[in-house]
Order: sequence, then structure tokens, then C-alpha cells
Amino acid sequence: MTVEKTKTRKVVIVGTGFVGASYAYALLNQGIGSDLVLIDLDKERAEGEARDLNHGMPFRSPMKIRAGDYDECKDADMVVITAGANQKPGETRLDLATKNAKIMKGIVTQIMKNDFKGIILVATNPVDVLTHVAYDVSGLPKERVIGSGTILDTARFRYLLSEYYQIDSRNVHAYIIGEHGDSELPVWSHVQIGGVPLKKYGCMDDVAEDPDMKQIFENVRDAAYHIIERKGASYYGIGLGLARLTKAILYDENSIITVSTLFEGEYGIENVYLGIPAVVNENGVREMIELDLNKKELNELHASAKILREMTEKVLE
Ligand code: LAC
Repeated sequence: MTVEKTKTRKVVIVGTGFVGASYAYALLNQGIGSDLVLIDLDKERAEGEARDLNHGMPFRSPMKIRAGDYDECKDADMVVITAGANQKPGETRLDLATKNAKIMKGIVTQIMKNDFKGIILVATNPVDVLTHVAYDVSGLPKERVIGSGTILDTARFRYLLSEYYQIDSRNVHAYIIGEHGDSELPVWSHVQIGGVPLKKYGCMDDVAEDPDMKQIFENVRDAAYHIIERKGASYYGIGLGLARLTKAILYDENSIITVSTLFEGEYGIENVYLGIPAVVNENGVREMIELDLNKKELNELHASAKILREMTEKVLE
């Protein structure tokens, strides 16, 4: 009897700091993938994280986890980049652009030296700008270079709305789009709870002007600052978001997730990576979802695109 070799689903993580380690733990804990390789400049750290994760193996389904180097990218399905400087209290994500762009160029050059043909997923901030850098340096097709985008902002938005209305966040459908950062915007025109538009739940007809809804959005947009002030960094939320994205890719789910992807004319926006709902599967981004944005939302999306395009052009000079 021939035993069919189970498909390997190999992920290489570049950067085993708080975000990379939280992401690796989420993959192990949820049984996502078959092979996990940890790369870090601090090789001892990567080795320590691999050992710590492996010692939990008896509590989970088997997974091959090891520290390694860029040669492991050759047969990897995904390379997930979390390495880089993170925000200090009072720092914006865009403040990190120049420093982290240099790091990103070096990392992606190393990845592509090993004839990598899979999908690059970027989480390092400012994620939209750095995903564009990864796209530019890698030469991979745009659908295979994805940023975590506003996946976490959208999750925060759904969570805070679910708390306000006391309804399971899984029944709250809402998007944050644009920059993963200060110029992001809520798509109030498309928020639904249990399939019912938000204004049926008693807030003002012009939802965007409802004081409670405005406060919810501000709390979403500024969430990272509030977490950083209290614990120094954020990593569980983004780690879980990266695991969700990894599952959609490795298991060919065709899931709609607000990732950072390259605009080439959609919404009248050219040549910039921005967070938008897109269908994600084993080939990366299959297509963007074209939302019927109202005038205010479209203007805000264009404003976000302008900020990111200017920063991207600066770091790609
Ligand atoms: C945050 C980081 C991931 O928003 O940018 O928590």
C-alpha cells in the first residue's frame, strides 16, 4: 500500500522578536502549516525560540520547527517578514520608514538569492510602504507580495463594535481600509451586524457623525499607541492576524481579508500598496473587492494613498 506523502506547507519567518515569536506560537497552537523555519540576526534567539516551541509539541499536532537561514527559502511556500525596528512611545509607523526600508531591501535580496517562488507576507511597519519595497526588490508578481495591511485594524473595529452592541464579533462585518496607520479610514457605509446595516441599531443616520461611532473609530486608529504606552509593543493581535492570513494562503481558502495589496487603477488609485478587502488564496491576492464607497470614504482613501505614495517614493529613491 503506498502511503501518500502529505503535502508540506512550509513557512519561513524572518525576525523572531515579539511579533515573529507570537506569530510562530499562533501557527503551532492552531496547527497551521507543517514546517516552520525561524531566521533572525540573533541566531541564538532564533534557536531559543525554536526549542521553546518544540517543547510544546506534545500538546499539539506535529510540526517541524527549527532555526535556520535563507537557504531554507528555496522550497518555502511563504516567507513572512516581521524583522525591523518597532514604534517607540510617541513614534508613528511612518517614522520607521527609512530605517526599516534599508532592512527590508537586505532581507528580500537574501530571500531572492535562493530562487524563492512562493508568497512574501510583510508585517514590518510601515507595512504598506515596506510591502511595496519588498515587491520592488523581489521582482515577484504583485499578487504574491502581500502586506498584513489593515487586518488588525479591521479586527479591532469589529471587536469594539461587538463590545458596544454586545454581539459576537464574528457577526460584525466591518472594514478599516487605507494605511495601516494614522490615515486609515472606517467604511461606515458597509458596516453590518447580523446582515443588518448599522443605522438600524439606533445610531445617527449619518453613522460617521455619531459621537459613539466616532469614538470607536478613534480607539481603533490609536490602539497601537495605547498598547505601546502600556506594555512597550503590540504583538498578540498582529501575530493572530498573520496566522489567519497564513491559513487562507496555505489552505487555499479564497477568504476575504483586508490585506495591503498593490493598487493599479482600482478606486482611481495608481501604484501604491494600501489595505483593502481582497480574496486571498494559495496564489496570494486573487482580486480586490470593489466597495461602493461614498464620496467621503473615497476622498479619505485617496488622501491615505497620497501620504503612502510620497513615503514610498522617498524610500525607493
Ligand atoms: C499594531 C501594529 C502591528 O497596529 O502596527 O498594533
